Amino acid sequence: MGISDTFEQGTSLMECARSAGVELVSLCGGEGRCGKCVVEVLEGEVSPPTPRELAALSHEGILRGHRLACQASVLGPARVMVPAESLSTSQRIQIEGLDAEVPPDRPVRCLNFRLTPPSTEDPAGDADRIAGILDGRGRHIRWDLRILESVPAALRRWSWRGKVALRYNEVTGLLPQEAVALGVAVDLGTTKIAVYLLDLEDGHLLGAQGIMNPQRAYGEDVMSRISMAMQSTSAAKEMQRIVIEALNQAITALCGQYGQEPQQVMEVSIAGNTAMHHLLLGLPVDQLGRAPYVPAVCSPVEVKARELGLAVGPGAYVYMLPNIAGFVGGDHVAMLMACSATDKEGIVLALDIGTNTEVCLISEGTMKSVSCASGPAFEGAHIKYGMRAAPGAIERVKLQGQDVIFSTVGDGPPVGICGSGLVDLVAEMLREGIMDCSGRILEHPRVRKSGGQREFVVVEGGEGRREVVLTQGDIRQLQLAKGAIRAGIEVLLDEFGVGSQEIDELIVAGAFGTYLDAQNAMLIGMLPQVPLQRVRHVGNAAGTGARLALLSGGKRMEAREISNRVNYVELAAWPGFNDLFVSCMSLAAQPRMCH
Ligand code: FES
Repeated sequence: MGISDTFEQGTSLMECARSAGVELVSLCGGEGRCGKCVVEVLEGEVSPPTPRELAALSHEGILRGHRLACQASVLGPARVMVPAESLSTSQRIQIEGLDAEVPPDRPVRCLNFRLTPPSTEDPAGDADRIAGILDGRGRHIRWDLRILESVPAALRRWSWRGKVALRYNEVTGLLPQEAVALGVAVDLGTTKIAVYLLDLEDGHLLGAQGIMNPQRAYGEDVMSRISMAMQSTSAAKEMQRIVIEALNQAITALCGQYGQEPQQVMEVSIAGNTAMHHLLLGLPVDQLGRAPYVPAVCSPVEVKARELGLAVGPGAYVYMLPNIAGFVGGDHVAMLMACSATDKEGIVLALDIGTNTEVCLISEGTMKSVSCASGPAFEGAHIKYGMRAAPGAIERVKLQGQDVIFSTVGDGPPVGICGSGLVDLVAEMLREGIMDCSGRILEHPRVRKSGGQREFVVVEGGEGRREVVLTQGDIRQLQLAKGAIRAGIEVLLDEFGVGSQEIDELIVAGAFGTYLDAQNAMLIGMLPQVPLQRVRHVGNAAGTGARLALLSGGKRMEAREISNRVNYVELAAWPGFNDLFVSCMSLAAQPRMCH
């Protein structure tokens, strides 16, 4: 498919693509560092290669017209081809989570009513009639003005019957009696968003949809987006607008699937990390991007959905789960709440692996959390053939002699390797003696040299097959990512003075965590060694936590308590952290220096 459009001279190819509705991968937020936005200029006038492009692209590539879209700009008419791997494709998004018990203490109660029509003898106001029957609490009832103004016409249209949504003592919705009152819960991730539609009256889940966070066009990690928002207010506003638009589309699509209307949504609950929380609400992020990285607010925020531009019921509120600190937010709270990590006996280690990995250690009622800058390597960034868990990604690997046995997402032909495949491959190379614990690739029939560096051929190219290799540089990226996670875990173990063998339960949350082979993750020293039966994969626990908070006032109290109780440990300030991090980069089950 070809798209033609006109742009100002000097517009970056990335900007041109974005305006034309073509989303490119942009892991570094357009700073020319990730090398993922490669396009091919087939003909035409574009700016000369920048030093960043010369560093990121091969000489042959540049001769063939390869350019970084974020660095090159149009100077005149040009024809540009976008290769499939540079397109920001959809990926496997986990929306299933734990089944959890929900206490019947709804923050929003839905009550059917039937009124006596007014008469000369009984000329009470329309809304007062409704308030009068609400649990005998008529005198304290408050009204959302938008709902109040709809009362007279609605009552007459519905023959004095209807349904109100009562949020504590405020009427936030008015529906015909036959209509189902709905609720929406959202796990707002940096990369992925899971949206759940629930029947607010009986609490059951109607459906769920996973979508990509459109803000990733502004950078795939939290820091890139914060720095974009710090540099430009219009970028911050745009990031807010596009994520709201994406939520509106997902809610409309979900409601449509079940024959419902978005206007029936009476409450929305959202769990996100602190940066996603702030960008959604349009809160300033400057203080988040500078030491000591302070959030604008940690307490739960409740705002009218319409103030954010969410096209749901006119009186509906959005409840944002509380944050813990600048880099530990409501999604961590939701995850801890959903897997009841805080109620367990013994020592519990819970981690939600992502671009930022949050880890919590719980022992005897004390909870400490860290945020590990694990980076997007498990999402495929900085890995030569790295990609997300999209169709064609190698997700499982086994080595048998000189053969590589693998499976791909969607069982299609291999085009790259995703996080779980990367962990498997490195573990297998260690097992087979193709790599030492320092990460150095050793001699092997599948190992060859390229540019003076060794690389392991995972898939041989040719006959229409795309070659996939694992380079020495890729292994370093994996070591950085897994070293950050393990160092965070070691800090927490040290804070509590316990050893990994004392961990009674190791909870792994998040989409990547679900597909991660725990045994391999232990072998490469990413996770501490615990008996496999103590490992529990809980899927998208943050989404489950958001659903619990939608339906239960008690769970909202619990979320607030968790956010107050968790002690945040700042890794950068931890004595000796850098040395610990270096030793955790070794591919050994226990952190150590490898030479
Ligand atoms: S190099 Fe262009 S977006 Fe990262």
